[in-house]
Amino acid sequence: MIEDPYRDADLVGLYDLDNPGGKDHAFYRALADQIGAHLIIDLGCGTGLLTRSLARPGRTVIGVDPSSTMLDYARQQPGSESVTWIHGDASALAPTGTADLVLCTGNAIMHVSLEDLPATLTSVAAALRTGGMVSFDSRNPAWRAWEHWTPEATYRERVTQAGVLREWLDVTPVQDGRVVFDAHNVFPDGEDRVYTSILFFRSVGEFQRELETAGFTDITCTGGWYRSSADDESPLLVFRARRV
Ligand SMILES: C[S@@+](CC[C@H](N)C(=O)[O-])C[C@H]1O[C@@H](n2cnc3c(N)ncnc32)[C@H](O)[C@@H]1O
Repeated sequence: MIEDPYRDADLVGLYDLDNPGGKDHAFYRALADQIGAHLIIDLGCGTGLLTRSLARPGRTVIGVDPSSTMLDYARQQPGSESVTWIHGDASALAPTGTADLVLCTGNAIMHVSLEDLPATLTSVAAALRTGGMVSFDSRNPAWRAWEHWTPEATYRERVTQAGVLREWLDVTPVQDGRVVFDAHNVFPDGEDRVYTSILFFRSVGEFQRELETAGFTDITCTGGWYRSSADDESPLLVFRARRV
């Protein structure tokens, strides 16, 4: 288990500016409406921007995240009182078999290690009712996004409330879809705040096998948000599956 890469409150405060939600949030909101979801769990909810937007009368929304910094931020945002927030990973999900929809968005599932994925999906299945749906997105290993994450390509400077921030990524050796990278962040005090992340890139076939083993059926994977079929040119894989 690595230290939480989202533990810097200054950077968490910038997260929603960098990830304001667009087609991805629209996709997940439409899915929730399509299946008439009354109980939704957002696993790896982060700052809760999507989570809060799912809330409405007659619907229960639960946001779950292992980062206390992310969750503290989420709890302080307008509308946060419409959501039940839980600190933890999938092991914190109650195995009630009552949820209509479990989401895991913004590539959050890529933080789950090879060893932890089976238990994570089993916990998700145990939270869902029969016929309930899981949906998540994950970067496509065939697209090899990490090759673009060089310090030169990712370097940028921007003005923040705490002054000018210089930031860049640095990927360390990649092995079997396990990508380790350091995010460097330098505010005007000159200190380089370095946060290490490990992301697990999994293929369509790997996810299909894991989902089937955890008790899911009707598994579909599209390349992006517009239901085109996934191939090596798709940067993002979007999955849906039903609990048996
Ligand atoms: C890139 S953020 C995505 C946040 C949010 N879902 C979004 O769409 O913006 C990834 C989130 O996954 C969370 N995370 C890390 N490990 C996790 C795990 N094992 N289970 C669930 N969430 C995890 C992180 O704390 C972080 O909030």
